Amino acid sequence: KTNQSWGGRFSEPVDAFVARFTASVDFDQRLYRHDIMGSLAHANMLTRVGVLNADELKAIEDGLNAIQQEIEAGQFEWRTDLEDVHMNIEARLTERIGITGKKLHTGRSRNDQVATDIRLWLRDEIDAILAEITRLQQGLLELAEREADTIMPGFTHLQTAQPVTFGHHLLAWFEMLSRDHERLVDCRKRTNRMPLGSAALAGTTYPIDRTVTCELLGFEAISGNSLDGVSDRDFAIEFCAAASLAMMHLSRFSEELVMWASAQFNFINLPDRFCTGSSIMPQKKNPDVPELIRGKSGRVFGALTGLLTLMKGQPLAYNKDNQEDKEPLFDAADTLRDSLRAFADMVPAIEPKREFMREAARRGFSTATDLADYLVRQGLPFRDCHEIVGLAVRYGVEQNRDLAEMSLDELRQFSDKIHDDVFAVLTLEGSVNARNHIGGTAPAQVRAAVARGRALLAQR
Ligand code: ARG
Repeated sequence: KTNQSWGGRFSEPVDAFVARFTASVDFDQRLYRHDIMGSLAHANMLTRVGVLNADELKAIEDGLNAIQQEIEAGQFEWRTDLEDVHMNIEARLTERIGITGKKLHTGRSRNDQVATDIRLWLRDEIDAILAEITRLQQGLLELAEREADTIMPGFTHLQTAQPVTFGHHLLAWFEMLSRDHERLVDCRKRTNRMPLGSAALAGTTYPIDRTVTCELLGFEAISGNSLDGVSDRDFAIEFCAAASLAMMHLSRFSEELVMWASAQFNFINLPDRFCTGSSIMPQKKNPDVPELIRGKSGRVFGALTGLLTLMKGQPLAYNKDNQEDKEPLFDAADTLRDSLRAFADMVPAIEPKREFMREAARRGFSTATDLADYLVRQGLPFRDCHEIVGLAVRYGVEQNRDLAEMSLDELRQFSDKIHDDVFAVLTLEGSVNARNHIGGTAPAQVRAAVARGRALLAQR
């Protein structure tokens, strides 16, 4: 017999390196609050069904609460030889309250315990992440409303395509974040199911009442199969998938901020507090925060791939492989939460350079499609209009002048269907105002979309 809690059948202590190699307490100690929450619910349930008596419950509750205080005061001594957060807390409980502490684990296994802890932990993380998404979306709505009339070039292939309003562009990010929010709300439902009571793998011989623990812990449902309950981590993979999509969105958004803040685009200024300088080039102001978020997206995609790979070969039920689920999951949640926080702080501080945006839209023949549409309204087939405007653009490139800068006579070289009302169509305002339907770039539509966005956030 050794002094380990499972030491009964062992004839020699575990190898010192193996003890360190198999321990997870360095990283799983952050589950302590949820581990204690789960233990309190389990002990309460055991008392209700008569496995523990009221005095024992009282001792366990006082002991666990005191341990939580010790941990939070930084006075708890985490021991690697006790392997993980669960054994550390249980050993300390027995140290504090004596023999009753050893009864807590009745009808339970670390397998259902850890599965329960991660779900409780992730549920809280998802809630915090959802709140950050909402805060970022609020910032986007406010900025979009302020910039509903601001005109910038819209791009395809990163080539100037058609004018859009900056507010409209910002609301594209709002839409993506709405879907990220939906996905996480959905993932939360499947995270919020209780494996506790599955015990090691087959359930337990004690007369446990899982509806009691389910209610005490605020789970939506009880897992329906003990083998599945202890071994499945698909909720964590689903979270990483949703987190990956959200990080992919933030990464694209970051890329735009980095470009817009460059001297070549010069569309925005990012306040100094979101940037850093160079140790050698005195003139530099680098958009580090969006760059770093773009880079951090890789960690979250890595967590997703890592967890999928971790699960794919595991036979039922619990395997020690699953101890490897925590670091990627923690890292994915931390990375997403911090990145959202940075974005939510940064977006309201974006300073648009409206004149430069406008100037960029004016260059690059961004109203060429408007001229083609004008000719269609004069009765010409669209393909012919496309050709006519293409010739006009070629002329403009040679002359180094935009369509709106040409005289009526110059424009009429390409079609006698062009009259002096064409100039209203060739202006940037004319172009954006004409796209006046749900989802279009017209300022009126941006304001309507902002109102819809506010209503959506109010329902959360
Ligand atoms: N630290 C373990 C984990 O993270 C807890 C469960 C271990 N159970 C066991 N029988 N080894 O999964």
